[in-house]
Formats: sequence, C-alpha cells, structure tokens
Amino acid sequence: MTRILGIETSCDETAAAVIEDAGDAAKILSNVVLSQIEEHAAFGGVVPEIAARAHVEALDGVIEAALAEAGVTLDTVDAVAATAGPGLIGGLIVGLTTAKALAAAAGKPLIPINHLEGHALTARLTDGLEFPYLLLLVSGGHTQIVHVAGVDRYARWASTIDDALGEAFDKTAKLLGLPYPGGPSVEKAASTGNPRRFSFPRPLKGEARPDFSFSGLKTAVRRAATELSPLSDQDVADICASFQHAVTETLSDRVVRSLERFRSEHPDLDTPALVVAGGVAANQAIRAALEELCREHGFRLVAPPIKLCGDNAAMIAWAGMERLKAGLAEDDALSFAPRPRWPLDSSSAPLFGTGKRGAKA
Ligand code: KG4
Ligand code: ZN
Repeated sequence: MTRILGIETSCDETAAAVIEDAGDAAKILSNVVLSQIEEHAAFGGVVPEIAARAHVEALDGVIEAALAEAGVTLDTVDAVAATAGPGLIGGLIVGLTTAKALAAAAGKPLIPINHLEGHALTARLTDGLEFPYLLLLVSGGHTQIVHVAGVDRYARWASTIDDALGEAFDKTAKLLGLPYPGGPSVEKAASTGNPRRFSFPRPLKGEARPDFSFSGLKTAVRRAATELSPLSDQDVADICASFQHAVTETLSDRVVRSLERFRSEHPDLDTPALVVAGGVAANQAIRAALEELCREHGFRLVAPPIKLCGDNAAMIAWAGMERLKAGLAEDDALSFAPRPRWPLDSSSAPLFGTGKRGAKA
C-alpha cells in the first residue's frame, strides 16, 4: 500500500490531499481546497503578492486538515508531492519549501510535480484510464492538446497562439462587470441568454493547423459591449451566451484535427479516449459540445468530476503516485528549484509568448 501527501499552491487555491493506492484501485482519503476567491475578488483577478501571503497563512492548517481527514499522520505517508511549477513564483516557493521541510523532517522522499501533469493524469485516478489518450487541457493559463503516451511521455500537438481559454472567459467577465472568477459567472449568465443574438468570430475555423486562438473573440465581445453600452442584464446574458456558443463551436472545429491525427496514429484502438481537464472543463456547454464531437468521431469523452477539474492537491498527490510507481521520483529532489515556466512537453517551444501563470503555449 502506498500513501502520498500532495500540496498545491501554484495559483489561488491552497490545497492538500492524501491518496492511497492499495494495489488494485487508488482512493482519495482527503482533498482539502481553500479558495482565495474572496481575497482577490475586489481586484477582479489574482494578485500574486496577496496569493503568496494567503498561502503562507493557510498552508499549514490545510495540510493538517488533509492529514486529519484522511486519518493518517506524516509518519505513515510514503512521500510528499508538491507542485513545483508552472505558476506564480510566490505560491510555488511557499508550497515547495513547506513540502521540502516536511519531507526532510519525516525522512520521506519529496516528489516535485508539474501542475499540468496533475491535470493530465487525473483521469487515470478517476476512471482508471489506460495510456495512450488525447488530452484537451483548458485552464486559466493553458489551452493545449497533448498526446499522453505514458507518465512523463507527453507530446504537445496543439496550443493557443494568443489567449488561454480560461483567460478569455475571465476577460469577458471583467469587461461585462461580472464577478471573478469569470468562467462560472459567464456560464451562469449565458444560461438565460440568446446564443444567436451576436455572431462572434470562430478564430482559425477550418484551418488545417490544429492550434487555438481566442483573442479575436475577446475583441469582438468588447466591440459589441461598447456599442450597446449601457448594458441591460439581458444584453449581458446574450453576450455571454453568444460568446460561449462561439467557444464551443471553435473548440469542436479545432479539436477535430487532433482526433483525426490520434486515430491515424492509433488505428488499433477501437474507441480512443479524449480527456478534458483544467478549470474550464467544469463548463457544461463545453462538456456537451465535446461529448457530441466524440460521439461523431468514435471517441469517448472522459471528464473528471467538477471538483477535480479545477486546481486541487489530489491530482498532485496522484501524479506523485504515478511518478513513484514509474520509478521517476528524483533522488536530489530537495534541491529542486520552483519553475514559474515549465512546459509539460519540454521538446515543444512555446508558440507565443508567456502569460502571468507561465508559458501559455
Ligand atoms: O485549472 P484552473 O483551476 O487554474 C489554472 O491552472 O489556471 O483553471 C481556472 C480557470 C479560470 O480561468 C476560470 O475562469 C476557468 O478555469 N473556469 C471556467 C469555469 N470554471 C472555471 N471557465 C468556464 N466555465 C466554467 N464553469
Ligand atoms: Zn490548473
């Protein structure tokens, strides 16, 4: 039996979790997530310095709660896994340093984890998914399609050439005066809106390259909002619904390129899996569109439960478990420095610049 304590502090959630693997199936013994939403709400986005300070204040208590809820002590875990990047440097330092101290004091191995690997492997914890599969990772800082061949065997097939999808939701919300975090606000407003009132662009639609682009969509939303200003509640709802509709159509058009490539590279697989992960994967309209797309193309969609889509430490503990089992835990991990930028597929150069949470591409 193997038990891992996981720690996540790369953005605005302070999280700790304990995972246990008894050989046949893994269990989440505890999964504590303390969101900093209230601290950042007044600013309409994550303020790095406030986030770092909030992690310092909350992390010890969150770890204690995760151990207590799991009914274990530090002595009875086999390793400590912590997010070492990509993300906001202040938070990464807090989480990784705490993990190092705990690991050193308890004489346990430390496993530094790439946050994106946590999202990438979650479906194996929740659904026991086998390799290989295709991953659509959509979060506040990343939008990419990754071919997942095994633990540490990631090939990026597509990514955004400008904004991340979560960023497009967040900026749209801010522009319309909806509360942070933007994704859930836009989704809620969209539920009472008319998705056909505005015809927003579908960036890169029909192009052979498999990548994504969302900045044109954001600009079109801004133009519509400015023209109509002052906006009624119905205007806001209609803009959100039309935006979300454009997003789902764009995603379907873009993702299909990679489904076709996956199919041609794995003709032996009957019903290959497309996994959707990251905070934006909580969006029901996006899930429904991907479900439909998968049905049409003979894939099955695997979407982790909503609470494991957003940032959490269960996924970090699980990634630690996978690395430990694969013999990929590093010996000199205590000297591992946090990496604000850390692509999952180190062989793929970023397509375009970097964002505040790391390389966007
Ligand atoms: O994975 P995550 O929790 O943090 C990052 O690693 O970025 O993703 C956060 C992002 C934010 O941009 C948030 O607005 C978006 O996920 N998000 C959503 C929804 N819930 C969260 N976007 C669209 N619809 C949602 N329901
Ligand atoms: Zn994330």
